[in-house]
Amino acid sequence: MATTLAKAADGTEAATHAARIEHVSKSFAGPAGQQLVLDDISLDVAPGEFVTLLGASGCGKSTLLNLVAGLDEPSGGTITTDGRPALMFQEHALFPWLTAGKNIELALKLRGVPKNERRGRAEELLELVRLKGAHGKRVHELSGGMRQRVAMARALAQESRLLLMDEPFAALDAITRDVLHDELTRIWHETELSVLFVTHNVREAVRLAQRVVLLSSRPGRVARQWTIDIPQPRRIEDAAVAELSVEITEELRGEIRRHGQH
Ligand SMILES: Nc1ncnc2c1ncn2[C@@H]1O[C@H](COP(=O)(O)OP(=O)(O)OP(=O)(O)O)[C@@H](O)[C@H]1O
Ligand SMILES: [Mg+2]
Repeated sequence: MATTLAKAADGTEAATHAARIEHVSKSFAGPAGQQLVLDDISLDVAPGEFVTLLGASGCGKSTLLNLVAGLDEPSGGTITTDGRPALMFQEHALFPWLTAGKNIELALKLRGVPKNERRGRAEELLELVRLKGAHGKRVHELSGGMRQRVAMARALAQESRLLLMDEPFAALDAITRDVLHDELTRIWHETELSVLFVTHNVREAVRLAQRVVLLSSRPGRVARQWTIDIPQPRRIEDAAVAELSVEITEELRGEIRRHGQH
């Protein structure tokens, strides 16, 4: 994938964006011929920016994220990213026969980190996601929230500048999700990563992001965007978060009504 670079004032090369999505469309072959899922999507993620992509089920959020990840090719338009992005999904996708630590070490190995450095680095990453001491734990010994922490540490092990997250907390209970929102906000601050986070949960989108991008359905287009300047760390029950969530939910409902979904 191409990387667009610009010369910074001090002569070093700095990326002008973490991801640039330009006029992207995507169709799939269906029983009734080609089905247009994404239509002319243009969207930039700035370096260090946290963007949530919000939309009804089936509107093409995962399809777009997979395109940004390079797992599939757009039918039209172009996508450039600042290096290869890291990915995190709803299902943790950890290897069950490896311990938490070894799952992370595997990602380090794939990145070419020398063997003698992997253990120490894995311990550091576990500490970053507040799982100090969990290196030797097997996946089945971990709760759902702990597994998503390990999955986060494994994604961070890739040292990507862009983290793509597809509903990573959707399967968790509300309290655990709340805690992981706090952790993700903290890690985002500490690492200065760019994040593109997919969700259909409006409050989650507003809780986390600097910018919320609402996708319409059938086909998916950028319907509206909101810049969010509520100070972090936010709480999902903050009045300002709730108020904006009501406004965005109204828009989302309108999108769903327009496209005859429930
Ligand atoms: N590989 C594929 N082949 C054919 N159709 C596909 C493929 N992947 C996705 N689709 C279709 O594209 C549309 C968008 O799917 P996608 O999974 O991107 O939606 P989504 O917004 O992520 O939904 P959800 O919120 O339920 O995860 C759906 O109609 C789906 O059936
Ligand atoms: Mg999806």
